[in-house]
Amino acid sequence: MGSCKVPYSVLLLYFVIGTFFVSQCSAIGVDANITARLLVNASDAAGRPIPDTLFGLFFEEINHAGAGGLWAELVSNRGFEAGGPNVPSNIDPWSIIGSESSLIVSTDRSSLFERNKIALKMEVLCDSEGTNICPVGGVGVYNPGFWGMNIQNGKTYKVVLYVRSSGAINVSVSLTDSNGLQTLATANIIASASDVSNWTKVEVLLEAKASNPNSRLQLTTTTAGVIWFDQVSVMPLDTYKGHGFRSDLVEMLTDLKPQFLRFPGGCFVEGEWLRNAFRWKASIGPWEERPGHFGDVWMYWTDDGLGYYEFLQLAEDLDTLPIWVFNNGVSHNDQVDTSNVMPFVQEALDGIEFARGDPNSTWGSIRAAMGHPEPFDLRYVAIGNEDCGKKNYRGNYLKFHSAIMQAYPDIKMITNCDGSSQQLDHPADFYDFHIYTSANDLYSKAHRFDHTSRNGPKAFVSEYAVTGTDAGRGSLLAGLAEAAFLIGIEKNSDIVEMASYAPLFVNVNDRRWNPDAIVFDSSQLYGTPSYWVQRFFTESSGATILDTTLQTNTSLIASAINWQDSNDGKNYLRIKIVNFGGDKVNLTISVGGLDPNSIQLSGSTKTVLTSGNLKDENSFNQPKKVAPTKTLLENAGTEMNVILLPHSFTSFDLSKESSNIRTTGTDSSSRASF
Ligand code: AHR
Repeated sequence: MGSCKVPYSVLLLYFVIGTFFVSQCSAIGVDANITARLLVNASDAAGRPIPDTLFGLFFEEINHAGAGGLWAELVSNRGFEAGGPNVPSNIDPWSIIGSESSLIVSTDRSSLFERNKIALKMEVLCDSEGTNICPVGGVGVYNPGFWGMNIQNGKTYKVVLYVRSSGAINVSVSLTDSNGLQTLATANIIASASDVSNWTKVEVLLEAKASNPNSRLQLTTTTAGVIWFDQVSVMPLDTYKGHGFRSDLVEMLTDLKPQFLRFPGGCFVEGEWLRNAFRWKASIGPWEERPGHFGDVWMYWTDDGLGYYEFLQLAEDLDTLPIWVFNNGVSHNDQVDTSNVMPFVQEALDGIEFARGDPNSTWGSIRAAMGHPEPFDLRYVAIGNEDCGKKNYRGNYLKFHSAIMQAYPDIKMITNCDGSSQQLDHPADFYDFHIYTSANDLYSKAHRFDHTSRNGPKAFVSEYAVTGTDAGRGSLLAGLAEAAFLIGIEKNSDIVEMASYAPLFVNVNDRRWNPDAIVFDSSQLYGTPSYWVQRFFTESSGATILDTTLQTNTSLIASAINWQDSNDGKNYLRIKIVNFGGDKVNLTISVGGLDPNSIQLSGSTKTVLTSGNLKDENSFNQPKKVAPTKTLLENAGTEMNVILLPHSFTSFDLSKESSNIRTTGTDSSSRASF
């Protein structure tokens, strides 16, 4: 019989191993008693104003961010152009309802519209009577949109299409589930032969009687004949400000209180080849007439419903300043010689005139005709994207710079060349700075601009993110490193005037780039930790950055701002701290330059972003697994002992009476002491 008694030697071994593990646990610090001290001089006079423009957005047409994303159009390939200008062509993602014996579908070049000649031809062989009877539901085509259309009960959808036929037609326009079995909304287009013998625009409003996030549009008939379709659009009526943007996605943006909108890319602006680069003139005017284009960097077709005008409108709707990035004759693989670049320069000048010219000007009049007689507030343009160092970049840049300077002396120009470590050899108001790196590296880059020359152009950190294994599809670890980097940007906001995360959006059905700030499909969305980190900085633009001193041996970084809530005029001191280490930290915060009695417990809060694991991510199932939690700050005061959780980002928001007591001057000698 065996014995359950544990021999003494084994117990001793357990004790030794146990002791070892306990001391190992202490070494990684779960209960470590690490202390640190943060001194904050909260006197406004000793602080420095942060530029109004500091934090904004970079929108790129990548990951179906726009087409199948922010742009609410539900039909994909609405003009049948995505297969190219030759016929017969691929009509993907349109598909056929019916069999060869009932229907032949092809494309031809008979469109009404000169810049997009392809139309869909449907030869219906079956009929409602005779020998070849059509199936009950009819035959025709369907479009599943961008991985399913989100149709919601009670909402109204506007269908617009162009139709032509050699005879009378009776076409059902329906929104159905993904198999066509359940009809969510339907209407019939009934017209005599003479009504549709030429291309005719038809508009139908469909009110959904049920919801389905994976719906499709069907065009079907049970009548024999030949019918052509072109430019088929389905738009929900409830877009943001009625301007065609998907409201739930825009609301994620407004919550960031962005100060600028850089658009439309990124590499999207460059193209692998110039012939596939985004060209603004092809993206304006009536949507039916836009040719659309294949973006060969991110490898998908866009109908360009979200065009240059719509980007400017979006900036205005978000109450931000537009920053237009245009191609300067350089793509990833080919370049226009500087001696031939003037047509590109003229295109940029025309684009500026389109945005802000008089409604009577050549291009301003087109903007006015599109519904915006007032100029858009375009003050910044970026000449190319990530092209510095390419053979013709500098030469081309100089041509653009001098022409724009002459025509629009107030426009601020942004070069692709990094001026943070060496002086630029060409004139610019800003230099573009992009960084994608590991978490440790970005954390250390909080000091990237500490020693940058304060003379010369300002920095525009227009793309930053942690990428690679540290980030996955958007981890807490990435967010913490980005928080540290942004604290560094705040502190250096005398030289860095603008910063934006990249990329902004990803449709989960076409992940071209990981991670991204906002993840969505047809009906759901969530912010990654990187998104939530940006929410901590929404009050920073235009605030006052304060002097802070951290006394610590551990991985902390902190900043403090004074800011005023424009809604109620209340003043706040916000102290933000990243604890990048795995230890809990006992932090003493001492606030000087402030009357202790001016801090109000009511309205003072603490907001923490952390999670159980550094690699934790959000998902549709757990959209707020890693999201900030806000609690009352019960010990708010000028001396506070607080705990910083391991791997966390914390914001302490102290609600203040409006006046500071020690605001005596702006020079360092007048700074309040602790
Ligand atoms: O943000 C994704 C890409 O990264 C951008 O298109 C490009 O500018 C950078 O290389």
